[in-house]
Amino acid sequence: MDKNKLAEIAKKLVAPGKGIFAADWSLRSSEKHFEKNDIEHNEESRRQYRQMLFATQGIEEFISGVIFFDETIRQKSDKGKPFPQLLKERGIIPGIKVDKGTVDMEGFPGEKVTEGLDGLSERLKEYFELGARFAKWRAVFGVGEGRPTSQCIESNSESMARFAALSQEAGLVPIVEPEVLMAGIHDIARDEEVTIKVLAETFSYLEKHKVFIEGTILKTNYVHPGKESGDKVDYQLIAEETFQTLERTVPPNLPGVVFLSGGDSPEESTAHLNAIAKLKKDVPWELSFSYARALQYPAIEIWQGKNENKEAAQKAFYHRAKLNSLARMGKYLPGMEND
Ligand code: G3H
Repeated sequence: MDKNKLAEIAKKLVAPGKGIFAADWSLRSSEKHFEKNDIEHNEESRRQYRQMLFATQGIEEFISGVIFFDETIRQKSDKGKPFPQLLKERGIIPGIKVDKGTVDMEGFPGEKVTEGLDGLSERLKEYFELGARFAKWRAVFGVGEGRPTSQCIESNSESMARFAALSQEAGLVPIVEPEVLMAGIHDIARDEEVTIKVLAETFSYLEKHKVFIEGTILKTNYVHPGKESGDKVDYQLIAEETFQTLERTVPPNLPGVVFLSGGDSPEESTAHLNAIAKLKKDVPWELSFSYARALQYPAIEIWQGKNENKEAAQKAFYHRAKLNSLARMGKYLPGMEND
């Protein structure tokens, strides 16, 4: 394992002012988003869509890396250039989602485990050849009565650690993504309690599996009340609770924590990041974004699969990337939404 190389890539992924674009919708997810926007869903329309986003002028100023899906990392631009190469030439690091999604956890109703460890070493080798220099694995934890169970947390943490160790062996920086889901009626205190438990277990397993922390990135959720709780809390409180959670669980040698948007709107996701940056805490890790929905909406709504909307959609994508870059420096103002 080349530790220096891994640490260097991890640092670049969370370089000041930059964040990660998660372009890793599975076929099922992209179908859902395409259908919602009346866009025909097939391999070619997915290629056109990703090409349109990747070709947006100037995004390299705000985007450090792009997470591909298996199909996307193999696709090419109209001119025949593989997407990973297209991005690399602009200084954007190609990455890949390697988990195979979640399945029900046998014997634990309502809980999920992530699959994808079988044959992972071989797949990682191939992804490295295709240009990927980092990889992502997502585990999900629902909050409810007696959930998540410690068995669910441990089982997923073990898989995340195995994924991380194998990724590093293959020369890819692992992004471990334990996501405490937003759905539920729980309050913010319960969300914090669960997120602390999940993150503590994640790092405990990373250590047990001898994962090189300086060459690892954490991707996780903001701590906030369940979507169905009806609780209204402000950005400041969410920032404070999220920050406190990280302080209690994340080792100081981790280079960075990136947040997912998890169903919050683009504006909310940007405001969360800005509120955290504005706490101006002296922390050892970089704090940034790794958004999928919060970067692609409203671009996908504007695009609608039509070439004549390409420029306007790219403008919207550029705008969200820029606002999130400003947010991670605490320089975002809601008025900028209309710029
Ligand atoms: O794994 C989830 C994605 O990478 C982040 O997606 O920002 O839409 O929650 P999201």
